[in-house]
Amino acid sequence: MKRIAVLASGRGSNFQAILDAIARGEINGECVALITDNKDVHAIELAKIADVPVVVINFGDYPDRTAFEADLLTAMHVINADLFVCAGYRRIIGVDIVREFVGKMINIHPALLPSFPGLYGQRQALEYGVKIAGCTVHFVDEGLDAGPIIVQRAVPVFDDDDEKSLDERILAQEHIAFPEAVALFCADRLIVSGRHVRILPEAP
Ligand code: GRF
Repeated sequence: MKRIAVLASGRGSNFQAILDAIARGEINGECVALITDNKDVHAIELAKIADVPVVVINFGDYPDRTAFEADLLTAMHVINADLFVCAGYRRIIGVDIVREFVGKMINIHPALLPSFPGLYGQRQALEYGVKIAGCTVHFVDEGLDAGPIIVQRAVPVFDDDDEKSLDERILAQEHIAFPEAVALFCADRLIVSGRHVRILPEAP
């Protein structure tokens, strides 16, 4: 059984989707920690309800990003997870951490990468005028939303969509794609070769 740690900065609906999939027995893993950079987020309440230990590394308490990242790295060593899941984690992860946990850290992005990386993927998609939008689960590398892609799910964009309606349609797919990617990782079914992630068939 894999040790999973989730990093989240906000409401935590993706975190909850992963907890739910674990509870349903769909993921061969246990959630050993929620790590958050903000002491006031809703994700903490969700962790408490699920009895998941919470590690708060409150960004506002640090003089600079270097000091914050040093404590984050220490916490990640102590937690010693097999997989670190960035679920609405709103900070760019420093290169020292990325290098150390390469292949063990995944992220979800609310756009069909490589289109619309960075902040507000849904808004970028709307402004560009695409007809299909979606979400991407990918390994974290040194680029911005740039690592090898594990799972993508698409949704239509309608003429009368606004940011909220598109966001909701994509989020519903995030809640399917993310647990699926975590389950594949925890079943040792992901083989990374350069940019490509091959998904092994389910063991008989
Ligand atoms: C999601 O849209 C995710 O794609 C993005 O941030 C949002 C987090 O939502 N990275 P939640 O905190 O999981 O509800």
